[in-house]
Amino acid sequence: MPGAGNGMTAAHTARALHDASDELRVSELSVVFGGLAALDGVSLSVAKGEIVGVIGPNGAGKTTLFNVICGFVRPETGTITFRNKPLRHHQPHDLAKLGIARTLQGVGLFRGLTVVENVVAGAQRRVRAGIVSAVIGGWRSSREEMALRRRALAILEEMDLDEHADRFPAALPYGIQKRVALARALMSDPDLLLLDEPASGLSEHQMDDLGSMVRELRSRMGVLLVEHHMDLVMSTCDRIVVLNFGRVIAAGTPAEVQRDPEVTTAYLGEDVSAVHQNAGDDGDA
Ligand SMILES: Nc1ncnc2c1ncn2[C@@H]1O[C@H](COP(=O)(O)OP(=O)(O)OP(=O)(O)O)[C@@H](O)[C@H]1O
Ligand SMILES: [Mg+2]
Repeated sequence: MPGAGNGMTAAHTARALHDASDELRVSELSVVFGGLAALDGVSLSVAKGEIVGVIGPNGAGKTTLFNVICGFVRPETGTITFRNKPLRHHQPHDLAKLGIARTLQGVGLFRGLTVVENVVAGAQRRVRAGIVSAVIGGWRSSREEMALRRRALAILEEMDLDEHADRFPAALPYGIQKRVALARALMSDPDLLLLDEPASGLSEHQMDDLGSMVRELRSRMGVLLVEHHMDLVMSTCDRIVVLNFGRVIAAGTPAEVQRDPEVTTAYLGEDVSAVHQNAGDDGDA
């Protein structure tokens, strides 16, 4: 890290790239949109039980990185490996069987399904909004269906959402919908959870709850947390990677990143610890 001067530079930079315990490794990813480099040589990794944050100003490339890992966007160059297996032509619907789950920027729940049905849908390998009701009500054996429903209800209970199980998403406050989206992602019992701005639109209190929830997941999975809200990222992540204009400009522990001058500059000279107050409210809802 530039200018760190605290004795952790070489070892730390190496850790910020790759380590034998890594589950997810992303190396030298580049993505170009219409001549603009959305990602430019981005490398990072997530080990089992580790929470890695990706932060950066609007347009820095965070969602693009997320979309490449999910298989929505193909990179021009670079590699992704998960548990030492290269992911080359994977599609979003392959993620569940690989052991990866995600929530998207915004909410993305199925409007025509109740909360518990949405969570059950998280167990599906291939889900399309139109067919999911038929899948749930149709060719599944009723025993399998009951087991999935019980599991979904257990997750909802664990996340304090059980009272909403039979409601439709549109009837619920935004913060609750975001939690349901997280519950749905957990339904596939992933080894790696990818979260794109899970805190957008949440109140401070809801954000604290989300932070505790994510920290509790650490014992079961690795987490890649793309997020604007500094408070949440700083209090939740083991390591943080900072993107700006598609490049990694810093990586390290929350404390290291917070005092990195390049990071402060990227956030227009604002005090990084105060950035959460005016970022993240960009209305992706
Ligand atoms: N599908 C696309 N086509 C063209 N350009 C795109 C596309 N997706 C993203 N971009 C551009 O790539 C750059 C990175 O965008 P990206 O959405 O990854 O940023 P971000 O860090 O997630 O921003 P935010 O904090 O606003 O969510 C931006 O300049 C954006 O305009
Ligand atoms: Mg984004």
